[in-house]
Parts: sequence; structure tokens; C-alpha cells
Amino acid sequence: MNYSRLHLKIFNTLSHSSHNRRFSKQCSLAAAYVINGKQIAKEVQVELKAEIDQWKEEGNIVPHLTAVLVGNDPGSKLYVKNKMKAAKSVGITSAVIEKPHQTSQAELLDVVAMLNAEPSINAVLVQLPLPKHMNERTVCDAVHPDKDVDGFHMSNIGKLCLDVPNLIPATAFAVWELLKRSGIDTFGKNAVVCGRSKNIGMPVAALLHSDGDNGFKMGMDATVTTCHRYTPAKNLPEFTKNADIIIVAVGSPNLITADMVKEGATVIDVGINRIWDAKQERYRLVGDVDFEGVSKKASFITPVPGGVGPMTVAMLMKNTLQAAKIQTKKKREKTAIH
Ligand code: GUN
Repeated sequence: MNYSRLHLKIFNTLSHSSHNRRFSKQCSLAAAYVINGKQIAKEVQVELKAEIDQWKEEGNIVPHLTAVLVGNDPGSKLYVKNKMKAAKSVGITSAVIEKPHQTSQAELLDVVAMLNAEPSINAVLVQLPLPKHMNERTVCDAVHPDKDVDGFHMSNIGKLCLDVPNLIPATAFAVWELLKRSGIDTFGKNAVVCGRSKNIGMPVAALLHSDGDNGFKMGMDATVTTCHRYTPAKNLPEFTKNADIIIVAVGSPNLITADMVKEGATVIDVGINRIWDAKQERYRLVGDVDFEGVSKKASFITPVPGGVGPMTVAMLMKNTLQAAKIQTKKKREKTAIH
């Protein structure tokens, strides 16, 4: 092992295990540190399991998550399966309600209402995308805000924008956790978010520019620019080159190339694209970032797969415990004798 590789190895270990911000600033090496989302997700799940064990030992309700899956999309089925597996590993009980593609929106809303009303169910998620005959916003807003572990309900999004979050959208929470655990400072930094989807880009941007003063401990205090489909492609590099942190959630392979990235930047790839690999004669998953090129220029980068994806599932589990805590607190407040 040559000297710089040894340094990189030590750097990887240190910045990972101790979240050492100063060290990560001092070390600017040619190859980016690859943020291992799979490994960090495992660490989060181990910590969460201990917290849930303690919660149960104190006599509290076993957190329970129910997912609703409409239709037969194989990708959605796999996502839900992974969520159930993660739930089991941390001590959360779970169930899946499967409905056929032709289910009416009214029927689905009835299912959601039934889940909202059941006190033993703390967390409810409706897997997206939904069939075209349904309105996703209407369905997301039907989930009770205190059981909305996706954080997609308009009141949860609104609260996040006001720096008083209830349940934070899992992907935005995952990006936050990855940056924190990798020791990446956001205070006063330039951040560019590519993509303004209501479930990912927008909540990520909201969390990045949230105000750390006024009691919001998760505030990130970055200066945030959001680029979207009407940002002229020729102008996109102007924004990205100025960014200390780039978050990409667009769904466009190789959107971000090395020439668009500032030396030493942090690049978080939320994109998931299934592409045909002619060489290997099989489909494979890639993100929105040219990983090979950009990793030579960035200081931190997330891979796809194995970056944000597994962390999103871990944060969904954190939200499930959080939902159980919110509901328990409200129940106690309601039954307390004044
Ligand atoms: N489909 C893809 N990602 C998600 C997610 O985070 N939550 C839900 N409910 N559906 C999704």
C-alpha cells in the first residue's frame, strides 16, 4: 500500500468512526472518500434497535408499521420487502396490505382511514408511485400526520419549512444523517440541489437551509440553490461549480460530470436509474452522477447503489419509532388528570 492510499484508509476509518470534522477538512486527497450508505445504515439500525429495546422495556407499545402496496410494480414490491426486512431487524412489527391495480381511490382512502383509526398501528406508508387514476397528493394527505413516516403529508412538509418538523421525509433525513455522520460541515456553505420533487428535492433543500438558531437542532444553515427542469442545461454548471455540496435527485444518468464539480466538493447522489449495460449484457442501477469521473474531483461522494437508498430505509425506521413516541406522548397528555 502506498503512502497516500494508507492515508486515505486511515482517513476513511477516522472520519467514519469519529465524525471528525476538523480531520475531514484538513485532508484533501485526489480520490473522493466514498460514503458507505449501506454500512452507515447498518450502524443506524443497530443503534435504533437498542433504543427500541429500551423503549419496549419501559413498557411502551411495540412500534408497528403498515405499508400499503397498490398494483404489481416489481420495483415497489422490492422496496416494500426491504422496508419490512429492516423493520424486523430493529424490532418493529410490520404488515403489508396489498391492493390490486384497479382499486379505486375511494377504496384506498378507506384503507388509510382504517389504519389511521387503529391505535396499535403507529406508522402508515402508501408506496409510490400509485396507479395513474389516483391523485398521490390526496392519498398522502389522507395519512394521519402523526403516522406519516414518509413525511409527505402537507402539514409535515409545512412544519419542515417552518423549522419545527414533526416527521421529516425519510430521504431528506437520510441525506442529513449521511452528511452529519461523515463530518461534512454545512454551516454557511453553498449547496445546490438538482431536482425539486415534492418528496425529495424540495424537502432536502428545506432541510439544508433550515435555521439552526431558535432551537432547531438539525438546522443546516447552508445557502441553497435549487435547479430544476427549467434551469437551462447550459447554465447548470455555473451553479454546480460554485457548490460545496451538490445533492442530485433528478433521475437522469450522468447528469453531473467532473467538469461541473468544484475540487473538494461533496456530492450526494439520490438518483436511481436502471440502465442496460451492453458490456455486461444486463441491467444495472446507476445514479445521476458520473461516479467514476466525479470521484476523482470531489472529496466525498455517495455511490449508487449503496448510498442514500439504504439510509432512506433506516430513517424510515427511525421515523416509525418517532411516530410511536409522538402518539404515546399525545395519549398521555390526553389522559393526564389536570
Ligand atoms: N417510492 C419510492 N420512494 C418512496 C418513498 O420513500 N416512500 C414511498 N411511500 N414510496 C416511495
